[in-house]
Amino acid sequence: MSRPHWRRAHAGDLTAISAIAARIHPDLPERPEVLSEKMRLYPDGCCVLAAGNEIAGYGLAHPWMQQRIPQLDGFLDQLPDAADCLYVHDVAVLPDFRGGVARAYVAEIEELARSSGIATLALVSVYGTRPLWQRLGFEPATPDAALRAKLAAYGAGATYMLRELTQ
Ligand SMILES: CC(C)(COP(=O)(O)OP(=O)(O)OC[C@H]1O[C@@H](n2cnc3c(N)ncnc32)[C@H](O)[C@@H]1OP(=O)(O)O)[C@@H](O)C(=O)NCCC(=O)NCCS
Repeated sequence: MSRPHWRRAHAGDLTAISAIAARIHPDLPERPEVLSEKMRLYPDGCCVLAAGNEIAGYGLAHPWMQQRIPQLDGFLDQLPDAADCLYVHDVAVLPDFRGGVARAYVAEIEELARSSGIATLALVSVYGTRPLWQRLGFEPATPDAALRAKLAAYGAGATYMLRELTQ
């Protein structure tokens, strides 16, 4: 079997993506159609971790605005005209396949941002993953009042983080 690798997600991966999301994020449920909308609006940022015939994880990212986060389980409707960040909505990998794969996904997203002229990556860290994201170059950013209110939906300890891409 070839090593697990990230590839672009296809519409046919949605069932596997939704199953992993439900298993890994039982307290942060999102409808499959909310996930598939991101794949439709920004396929370049939406990947699955292919392990043989199995899907072992997914990463979803799309252009967005700093200090704004899409509502959990909410539709984006459209991408902003003047995006100033690539927002990593979620990366989730089955336990047996972890180890180096978040780093590999972020490297892909970084490359994508650079080639799109976007200089910042953004995300909301949940479940105490802040040290992990710091290891990948993200830093906590002070949220404004509106963002603070939205972060509450992501659970205690949710942290808005940014990574500036250096030249
Ligand atoms: C988040 C997740 C995708 C990470 O996958 P992974 O393959 O284990 O991540 P990586 O090994 O690429 O980790 C990236 C770096 O963080 C480090 N790291 C991992 N866990 C860490 C921790 N608890 N504290 C500090 N650093 C940590 C890794 O060692 C690695 O650094 P290195 O490459 O310099 O060794 C996986 O743990 C997961 O699916 N978790 C559940 C869902 C989740 O929490 N998603 C994130 C939502 S914000």
